[in-house]
Amino acid sequence: MRAASDSFGIYVHIPFCAQRCDYCAFVTYVGVDDLHERYVNAVLRELGVHQEKGLVRPASSIYFGGGTPSRLSLELLGAILGALPQAPVCEITVEINPEDASDEFLAGLVAMGVNRFSVGIQSTAAHVLKELGRVHRGDDVTTLAKRIHDSGVASWSMDLIIGAKSERDEDLLATLESLVGHEHQPPHVSCYLLSVEKGTPLSADPTRHPDDDVLAHRYELLDGYLAEHGYAWYELSNWSQPGHESRHNQLYWSQTPYLGLGVGAHSAEGPRRWWNIANLTTYLERIEHNESVLGGEEVLDDSTRSFEKLALGLRRRGGLVWPQEVDLTKLAGYVVESEDGLVLTRSGRLIANEITHQLDALVGPSTKRAGSDH
Ligand SMILES: C[S@@+](CC[C@H](N)C(=O)[O-])C[C@H]1O[C@@H](n2cnc3c(N)ncnc32)[C@H](O)[C@@H]1O
Repeated sequence: MRAASDSFGIYVHIPFCAQRCDYCAFVTYVGVDDLHERYVNAVLRELGVHQEKGLVRPASSIYFGGGTPSRLSLELLGAILGALPQAPVCEITVEINPEDASDEFLAGLVAMGVNRFSVGIQSTAAHVLKELGRVHRGDDVTTLAKRIHDSGVASWSMDLIIGAKSERDEDLLATLESLVGHEHQPPHVSCYLLSVEKGTPLSADPTRHPDDDVLAHRYELLDGYLAEHGYAWYELSNWSQPGHESRHNQLYWSQTPYLGLGVGAHSAEGPRRWWNIANLTTYLERIEHNESVLGGEEVLDDSTRSFEKLALGLRRRGGLVWPQEVDLTKLAGYVVESEDGLVLTRSGRLIANEITHQLDALVGPSTKRAGSDH
């Protein structure tokens, strides 16, 4: 699925969490749940400022990410959603942590118009969840899947992470089995390779850093399993059943404009990228004093934007139309030319960054611009 040219995305960052995960470097806060209402008011005021400047268009995709959006009450989530302008067809996603997913909460989200859930499972192995610092238990995924299905939501995803030190092949296979081995399979699966982010407890403990060969092996295991069970990869870390690709993620990968609201949120429009300050107290105080919350901005030059287009296009199946005249012999085994354009093979996906640089070197900037589809 390609983003239409009039697509516009709105991302809302909800920074509250029950507990900080061992690997997470996102803008999140624990123990400040008394700030929920004040934060939502600030987000609404920020929206108003952007609206006055004419920066907000009807959204074809709205995404509540975190942090943990499901820590907010239905009333507060509904207050934000109700204020956001929607295009006639709009994908509305809320990230949900398993421990928050009561029937009442899920039904309330669907009633307010949310049509996609993204559920952070990560693993079902108790020792892996413990190592990752997760709150929830892994043994309830099948029941959770049934309850999500019964909520009537149009589409949903489960997020996994591979590469924790204590994870074994059989843990990943058991996790996959509990995700897809029953009638209420998630129509979409995201799986991220555990990355070591600066300032996290994981970063401070090199004995637990993931091994590249193990990561590659697990990725192959996962991709093979999902392919056998009816999921096609459409981006390096994302697989879906037909028609359930995430519209919102595709906005990012196709350089479509989006507006980020909330602490630390990022935005993009054409070559301009900007982001909000990443400190919650400062964010709240500035909004409340009618001051700007801009944390920084940059304008990409043509060559950087062109390289980004190549890199993002290559991450996706169907992301790159390729000029026939470029000789790809050196990349045999890593890319194939197909009806979807130039597509990474499984081996190519494991070294996507390296292949991007090699492709960039093979073509001049003007050919490259003509060759990619957005
Ligand atoms: C920031 S989390 C927020 C969603 C939700 N609160 C949760 O805990 O799953 C969004 C997703 O980012 C991914 N993620 C965050 N940090 C990561 C890291 N260091 N390595 C790999 N994936 C990561 C996880 O898969 C997670 O589901």
